[in-house]
Amino acid sequence: MNTILIIDDDDQLRASFDKLLVEEGYAVRSAVSGEEGLKMMQGNSPDLVILDMRLPGMNGLETFHKIHGIEPKLPVIMMTAYSTTETAIEATKSGAFDYILKPFDIPEMLTVINQALEAGRFMRSPIDMDVTPDQASHDAIIGKSKPMQEVYKAIGRVSATDTTVLIRGDSGTGKELAARAIYQHSHRADKPFIVINCVAIPESLLESELFGYEKGAFTGAAFRRVGKIEQASGGTVFLDEIGDMPLSIQAKILRLLQEKNIERLGGRETIPTDVRIIAATNRDLEAALADGRFREDLYYRLKVVTILLPRLCERRSDIPLLTEYFLSRYASELGMDNPGIVSEAKAVLDNYPWPGNIRELANTIQRILIFNRGSPISREDITQAISGASAGRDGDPNLVDQKIREWARKALTSEYKDNLFDSCMDHYAAILISEALAITGGNRSQTAKLLGLSRPTLHSKINKFHLKLETSVKKEPS
Ligand SMILES: Nc1ncnc2c1ncn2[C@@H]1O[C@H](COP(=O)(O)OP(=O)(O)OP(=O)(O)O)[C@@H](O)[C@H]1O
Ligand SMILES: [Mg+2]
Repeated sequence: MNTILIIDDDDQLRASFDKLLVEEGYAVRSAVSGEEGLKMMQGNSPDLVILDMRLPGMNGLETFHKIHGIEPKLPVIMMTAYSTTETAIEATKSGAFDYILKPFDIPEMLTVINQALEAGRFMRSPIDMDVTPDQASHDAIIGKSKPMQEVYKAIGRVSATDTTVLIRGDSGTGKELAARAIYQHSHRADKPFIVINCVAIPESLLESELFGYEKGAFTGAAFRRVGKIEQASGGTVFLDEIGDMPLSIQAKILRLLQEKNIERLGGRETIPTDVRIIAATNRDLEAALADGRFREDLYYRLKVVTILLPRLCERRSDIPLLTEYFLSRYASELGMDNPGIVSEAKAVLDNYPWPGNIRELANTIQRILIFNRGSPISREDITQAISGASAGRDGDPNLVDQKIREWARKALTSEYKDNLFDSCMDHYAAILISEALAITGGNRSQTAKLLGLSRPTLHSKINKFHLKLETSVKKEPS
């Protein structure tokens, strides 16, 4: 469970934060001053600090510098009123994760908290490479096969340098893990590691997220904002899904790589920028090039050092090791004993094509563990889990699909067709979420994991659909 330390002298604010964050499944500690907060951190560091700018005694900025001096990788979110925004910006320039303006928009704040925790985890949790499952004490890259040995060698070679690296491979092959491993083993490992997912951020926001903006750069830009690249100064920026980056931003990234500087939106100042870029994509960049969706100059610049992650079906000999790793890891995360797996079941895993690669294997094992609650994993458990997932993917007309089709037809022919698509999707999403809540006994963080949603997204959907926990947990899991 993640622990969040709140430092604020406002009793009411601390109390409402406490309530909200505990509900979201976080452990919360709070302090009324910078001095008290620092004392609390001794020997027992939280995963995130949320710090008010205006504090009695040591002020927010000083407190931030002290915290950052002791634990440079601990993410800190500053809370600021309009009057202290400039100082909050100073803090982000020196490495605070972000700042939020009072009064808060709760879903937005939960999103920032989630991002900050993930950033902290990425920076702080090391990646074990080329280990056996029982040696893996942290996140690990597992695999002994020849193609993986090549990957380890490549990671080793590039880690020691400052060169730009392009990581390629199908979805779920471990590109993000490889990027983290390069960072962890580089001489920038004690500096920030900032992840930008080029598809998760809407195009209109991506540019300002990366490069920041000056006050007045566009309507709504009431203050200067420091972009993620500037914030990562001295560190590493991971541009995930770079194959989906809009052309206009590709041009700016090229300039960053060539000239090592950036400009904030609406700004004239050229800001020298020392960051190492790691990029990843599962796209066919050559096709994107041919269609004019990807710049040729950027492509050649990026591909000089490429690491290609093999598909799982190209390294089948690793399936047993990976299975063992995910079984023990997820069993312990779910607080259960590792139930083990019978040998005929292993054979099914060995022979399945795994189009979703390692992510699919990991998800399959996690799903089976949740459903079968402790008995050794059988051949049937696996065929069921796999066929359920592939039916969803291939659209096989099985019974479930037929029911959904009937229901869709009814909706399409009904009189009420306002927002038909969205309301049908919501209808289905609400069922899915309430079933997931029932399976996890209402545990939101397990539910989010099970559904592959972030906690803030799950939270906002639960609110949107007015899902009542009491009613959903009473239902018998089918
Ligand atoms: N070699 C490996 N050993 C252990 N776990 C792995 C390995 N490769 C991938 N994983 C796990 O599989 C999941 C997917 O990996 P990751 O997110 O790195 O894939 P990706 O290539 O970035 O996929 P996408 O293109 O969809 O973003 C993660 O949970 C990751 O921890
Ligand atoms: Mg990825």
